[in-house]
Amino acid sequence: MRRRTFLRAAGAVAMTLALSSAALAQEAVKVGLILPMTGPFASTGRQIEAAVKLYMQQNGDTVAGKKIQLIVKDDTGVADVTKRLAQELIVNDKISVMAGFGLTPLALAPAPLATQAKVPQVVMAAATATITEASPFIVRTSFTLPQATVPMADWASQNGIKKVVTLVSDYGPGIDAEKAFTGAFTAKSGQVENLRVPLANPDFSPFLQKVADAKPDALFVFVPSGIGAQFMKQFMERGLDKSGVKLIGPGDVTDDDILNGMGDVALGAITTQHYSTAHDSPENKAFVEAFKKANNGMRPNFMAVGGYDGMHLIYEGLKKTGGQGGQALIDAMKGMSWTSPRGPISIDPQTRDIIQNIYVRKVERKDGELYNVEFATIPNVKDPVKAAKAN
Ligand code: PHB
Repeated sequence: MRRRTFLRAAGAVAMTLALSSAALAQEAVKVGLILPMTGPFASTGRQIEAAVKLYMQQNGDTVAGKKIQLIVKDDTGVADVTKRLAQELIVNDKISVMAGFGLTPLALAPAPLATQAKVPQVVMAAATATITEASPFIVRTSFTLPQATVPMADWASQNGIKKVVTLVSDYGPGIDAEKAFTGAFTAKSGQVENLRVPLANPDFSPFLQKVADAKPDALFVFVPSGIGAQFMKQFMERGLDKSGVKLIGPGDVTDDDILNGMGDVALGAITTQHYSTAHDSPENKAFVEAFKKANNGMRPNFMAVGGYDGMHLIYEGLKKTGGQGGQALIDAMKGMSWTSPRGPISIDPQTRDIIQNIYVRKVERKDGELYNVEFATIPNVKDPVKAAKAN
């Protein structure tokens, strides 16, 4: 008799546990964060993961009454791995949204899955203009290379630069940067010669020799985040820093994460971009301080701000949908605007790309550290590639 009562009670407890964990699973909103955490682009993964976790730490892990469960996966920077991980996260983990995507090929690989499964894909890093056209479920919180680059061409032509050699990593964002600069600069009567360097294990020296021979007024450079220090070292070894060739480009080459280790060679470089650790606003001061505190003094770079704002977009989108994913979530994200550590930003409801200020900056030493110091602002810049298509 006693034994039967015990069994009945134990059964009831087991049933309650099963029910409550099922209820919990239903209530949890899973966010799959796919990033290069190892390999040559691990700095991008490290920055974005740290920013996403900071956002969750500051804003709690419950949204619209549902627990946010973050699942971080390392794609090692290989597109086939990104795609497989996205598939597993969608099918097995039943994620509501996927985010991250450290390089253009890594953002493009899972795009068909986002479309098929109707899972919003928040691109926090990759920056080739066309990425948002690969799926109606893609939304971007990073930037596009043409968006950051056209203001550079304007600055160069207004500042006595007539002859430029461009040197870019030979893939999507590099080609975007090269085309955007060349188009805008030649339209203002500038002269341009184009060079492309392989993305994998780049040896810049033969290209830098060509630059030295061409004697341009400026060298325009795009290398992806994390590679700038390698470039700067070879730029200096070739003596180009002393040759009077001005270094210009989108801000990836003077990435805040590694800028301080580059030394004096970086001083005076002029770049255009959407984020600097030194951006002067109360929101950014608070962000930089909290980020450094949580990460042993590591500075946030433009990848971190893409991750932080991407998480904000996910949280605010979920608040609007009451925790629902799918079409409702991507629709909720369209047109959203807020003040980021980088300044005012919004999601273009037509293109799902980010509209943001682009700042002109100069590398300077301040309190013993190197910073990209902003000295001019071009407000509310849309991706020019898609803006041209819309006209
Ligand atoms: C990209 O692959 O889209 C990419 C990566 C790093 C950058 C910019 C663009 O700094």
